[in-house]
Amino acid sequence: MTNFTHVAGRVHADLASPDWWREAVIYQIYPKSWADSNGDGIGDLNGVRQNLPYLAELGVDAIWFSPFFVGPQTDGGYDVADYRDIDPMFGTLQDAEALIQEAHELGIKIIIDVVPNHTSVEHPFFKAAIATPPGSPEWERYHLVRGQGENGELPPNDWISIFSGPAWTQTNFEGKPTGYWYLHIFDAGQPDVNWDHPDIVDEFDKTLRFWFDRGVDGFRIDVAHGLVKSEGYPGGGEEKVLDENGEIVDIIPHPYWCQDGVHEIYRRWRAIANEYTPTRIFVGEIGEPTTARVAKYLRPDELHTGFNFGYLTAQWHADSVRKNVNETIEFNVPIGAPTTWVTDNHDTTRSVTRYGCDWPAHNWADSVDRDSKFSNHYVANDEEVALGRRRGRASMLQMLALPGSAYIYQGQELGLEEVRDIPAEKRQDPVYINSKGDIVGRDGDRVPMPWTRSGKSLGFGPEDGAEPWLPMPRRWSEVSVEAQLEDPDSMHSLTRTALLLRRQLPLLGSGQMRWRDDLVESANVLAFERFDETSVSSVVCVANYGDENVSVAALSVLIASQPDVSLHNGHVVIPPDTTVWLIL
Ligand code: GLC
Ligand code: CA
Repeated sequence: MTNFTHVAGRVHADLASPDWWREAVIYQIYPKSWADSNGDGIGDLNGVRQNLPYLAELGVDAIWFSPFFVGPQTDGGYDVADYRDIDPMFGTLQDAEALIQEAHELGIKIIIDVVPNHTSVEHPFFKAAIATPPGSPEWERYHLVRGQGENGELPPNDWISIFSGPAWTQTNFEGKPTGYWYLHIFDAGQPDVNWDHPDIVDEFDKTLRFWFDRGVDGFRIDVAHGLVKSEGYPGGGEEKVLDENGEIVDIIPHPYWCQDGVHEIYRRWRAIANEYTPTRIFVGEIGEPTTARVAKYLRPDELHTGFNFGYLTAQWHADSVRKNVNETIEFNVPIGAPTTWVTDNHDTTRSVTRYGCDWPAHNWADSVDRDSKFSNHYVANDEEVALGRRRGRASMLQMLALPGSAYIYQGQELGLEEVRDIPAEKRQDPVYINSKGDIVGRDGDRVPMPWTRSGKSLGFGPEDGAEPWLPMPRRWSEVSVEAQLEDPDSMHSLTRTALLLRRQLPLLGSGQMRWRDDLVESANVLAFERFDETSVSSVVCVANYGDENVSVAALSVLIASQPDVSLHNGHVVIPPDTTVWLIL
């Protein structure tokens, strides 16, 4: 159970608790898009420092920062040239140190991103390699392979980049093509590194220690399943193993993913983290195809947690969510890893839009018929956004009632929707650029935060500053932080109250969970109870996914995702797309 201390009238989780990460609510900041302090149109670390009180008020336990390291920003910072310094665009190392300290003073932990699958082409290792011919030791830090064809003029195999096109780029030496190609699972500006090389191992040992020594509480590991490639670079892709009825019984991942060798790396990293107090943690972006495979990363001597992408991709539908919750609990409980919940991040079409358009699944990378509501190009209309916001509120309350740790992506607490009408020339995502606009990509969930009702950039930057790096919709004036702080019924107020309740009722974080299907007879409703054996009270969360009101007998309503949901004659009536927390 977490201990709480009161600081300046606010309840804080105990920073020294070794288990803080088991039930932490973690707020993700995409640094380019949160707050611009110096008016160059790009968010920065001092912008974060100025607005830390906002996060303290909201009541989150930790911040996860997408990368703010030196790099050319070919992939929004996931292309790093120096892992141990801050890009001047974001500030200085001193700013980062001050930020870590100030956050800690407010009771907020800091998690930063580490990108170990690839460097930027601007990293000194790659610059050294590209300056030499194939066969030189500098190239051994990367994956350089002879191409097919007489002169090696064709890529070594059929591997495709996640961002479209071949996963290989031919190198030149002294102005001539060499017939040797380097591997990049992502953009050509992000060459994959060779984890068999001691310099790579050492580079990341140093990086972890550098930031742990500066007080960072943990790392989010980018593409955690990608670091080791299949020996000999065999062609081919993911394979599905079917039983005699044609049901998928197993998935053999693509040979550039999910190799067993990654586990040795994480055991090494865990040992480094274990040298530090208070507890330092790892959260993996683990893209393994089955929960059994994910579980391996969460063994006690590897990573602490991973993102629950099944919850993120679940449809707004009771069955879809129930299935994920069951699977998640079934596989986490035996291995002792906390469950995590997440619906939004910097790679995902915002849940408001997905839920409002009834997306069957999450599909940022698919290119489907552009007019379809499920297309990544589709612009949700006002009605769909309004429905999505309503569902976003219900989803937030449900997520914060589930056991374990949860993630909130910046702007989710405001109910922001995906922005689709970004002019082509402003778009920066390599997903868009490399697919020649076929796949719309992720810029639309990275649009800067609206802080104020008025002003050129709605308070994202100073009034006399440059235009934000991505255009912000004027309509966001109404959902700005300023507008929502004034409104007790806003999404922001809802989130803040839920986070406060979560802290006042520790069983919401660490307690157990059981379904309470007995409370409502409807397949479109998810009802579950949070309890712990030592306390008499429990909290019941009921989410109505259906299109009819449901009624539940209760003693009191702790919070509801819609205003005007209250108790009448011992019953609460829960309208469609609404979640409530109840005491029975
Ligand atoms: C991860 C990041 C994504 C990035 C990719 C390559 O999936 O979340 O933003 O493009 O890795 O680093
Ligand atoms: Ca700036």
